[in-house]
Amino acid sequence: MACDKMRCMTKEVPTLDAEVTKSLIARRDLLSGTAAAMATAALAPTALRTGEVEAASSTDLDFVELPHGIDETHHVSPGFTADVLVRWGDPLFADSPDFKPDSLTASSQAKQFGYNCDFIGYFPLPYGSASSDHGLLCVNHEYTTSSLMFTDVRGSNPYPAPTRRHVDVEMAAHGHTVVEVKRQTDGQWSYVQDSLYNRRITASETQMKLTGPAAGHDRLKTSADPTGRLVIGTLNNCAGGQTPWGTCLTAEENVHYYFAGDPRGTAEAGNHLSMGFNQSLFFSWSEYLDRFNVEKEPHEPNRFGWVVEFDPYDPESVPMKRTALGRFRHEGATTAISSDGRVVVYSGDDQLFQYIYKFVSAGIYDPDNRDHNRDLLDDGILTVARFEEDGTLEWLPLVWGDGPLTPENGFADQAGVLIETRRAASFLGATPMDRPEDVETNLITGSVFVALSKNPFRRDFRTDGANPRSRNRAGHILELIPPGGEGMHADHAATTFSWNVFLQAGDPSDPSSGAQYHADVSESGWLANPDNLAFDPKGRLWIATDGASDFDTADGVWATEVRGTARALTRHFFKVPVGAELTGPAFTPDGETLFCSVQHPAQVSGSTFDNPATRWPDFEDGVPPRPSVVAITRKGGGTIG
Ligand code: FEO
Ligand code: CA
Ligand code: CA
Ligand code: CA
Repeated sequence: MACDKMRCMTKEVPTLDAEVTKSLIARRDLLSGTAAAMATAALAPTALRTGEVEAASSTDLDFVELPHGIDETHHVSPGFTADVLVRWGDPLFADSPDFKPDSLTASSQAKQFGYNCDFIGYFPLPYGSASSDHGLLCVNHEYTTSSLMFTDVRGSNPYPAPTRRHVDVEMAAHGHTVVEVKRQTDGQWSYVQDSLYNRRITASETQMKLTGPAAGHDRLKTSADPTGRLVIGTLNNCAGGQTPWGTCLTAEENVHYYFAGDPRGTAEAGNHLSMGFNQSLFFSWSEYLDRFNVEKEPHEPNRFGWVVEFDPYDPESVPMKRTALGRFRHEGATTAISSDGRVVVYSGDDQLFQYIYKFVSAGIYDPDNRDHNRDLLDDGILTVARFEEDGTLEWLPLVWGDGPLTPENGFADQAGVLIETRRAASFLGATPMDRPEDVETNLITGSVFVALSKNPFRRDFRTDGANPRSRNRAGHILELIPPGGEGMHADHAATTFSWNVFLQAGDPSDPSSGAQYHADVSESGWLANPDNLAFDPKGRLWIATDGASDFDTADGVWATEVRGTARALTRHFFKVPVGAELTGPAFTPDGETLFCSVQHPAQVSGSTFDNPATRWPDFEDGVPPRPSVVAITRKGGGTIG
């Protein structure tokens, strides 16, 4: 979400066998071998931080670039096709009703693809295979835009006073979808409507467990749940991640938009205010549901803002809110296996001047024992990043009793540190960043990339090496480098990394922009407001944007090498319709399909249900714009890019 823009059934379920994870490990080994070969090639300097810029460029990213600009539909580089795969309202089950925009109900929406698709995870079928033509798509539904959904919501204010029906539909349109997808012999993708894997997770119906150090704590108990361990629903699921043991991570981001009431009179005042629960509502669910009013249920907000893990291969699996990973506005959650086998999860906290986090598990990942891995994310140490001006990065542990994290500062126990992760990180002196969004690890180089979408409120006196621009309108991307070596040798669990600025976004032809890329970036190769990131199997970085319309161009996807002579030479590949942002880019294992979410098409000022800025993707009178997943493939076959 552009935070500032809103603006079984008895069924056969596959079980893990050792082959599954062995194939994943084999892939890592393969990539590591590739990395060893590449290591002999010319390595790019960590140029931008030191001011060096390379002259020559070499890359096989030779697709024809798109021009900048905004219109009513999507565009992909010539030579590729971008087909709509699944749309908001599409039926997912044998008994799902068809999409009827003039009579939306919660019960129908709960059996249809949700609204505002975001994160996409591709999980091959059968489980353990590396299939690139048959799998499960796990897709987040971050939020809803009422004025573009309902025939009876008038005006362009996206969040007018709703009726109970509106609220119920909105809650059923939030959450997550698991849907089986197949690539046909003609190369086209389609989804399987009556697959036994298909599942909707919603804000209103799906029961989840709180697990880890904070589970069962008094501050997580409510009148509906005196155990502090059971929650109905998940909120504002933005980006996410996939674990090597085949589970999906979905991250709860802007959860403050859902809670009414003044927190200042409650015992959770400081906590709630630090998370932004200041009645900046975009939803009015509290008018019908007391749990969304902090004055009536002051602990309910503490049950949101977590990373949720579930098993997409088991449609009956109970999603787990993993409290060990901390509570904040999680953009996403990206897993890496450190060289010693510990599991690391990176996550950005998407708000101006917030932080970047890394969880390190206590246990060791076992590729031959899926059950052993299931609860690895419940026990470990959460750390937060402090960027030093000498190019090093310290990961500071958020451990109760250490340093300032004591009762004198309001931290009664480790659960308190995790519930108030932001406040704890602030006490430790973490580096306030320019809106940390997606974090992604490169399996070949071992380095970690972080998108920082923007910070127009940073001023000269607050700039630093890792956030170098005052009034940063266009955002930037950082590269974090773990010690230990490339690929699987990277020590992601280490407490000290190095870092550099990979690129500074914006229009480089504007001298005042401070934009920095490879010198050969084209007129349409520059981008603005990097948000989601993905690596293809060759280790090249694909960057999705949120906010480029402020620079008079559509959001979309740009691709670049991350090292060698074409490092930071971004090229423009795909763009989305007016009002939309591009989210969730995800590749199949063979790199031949790129799935992308087109989120909130037509969400611009003045756009309404009756007169939307675009009716993408159906373009039929009376049919509203529909957030959808598209599948991009190369005409005639072959890899993307
Ligand atoms: Fe939901 Fe940070 O974008
Ligand atoms: Ca965003
Ligand atoms: Ca995002
Ligand atoms: Ca990503």
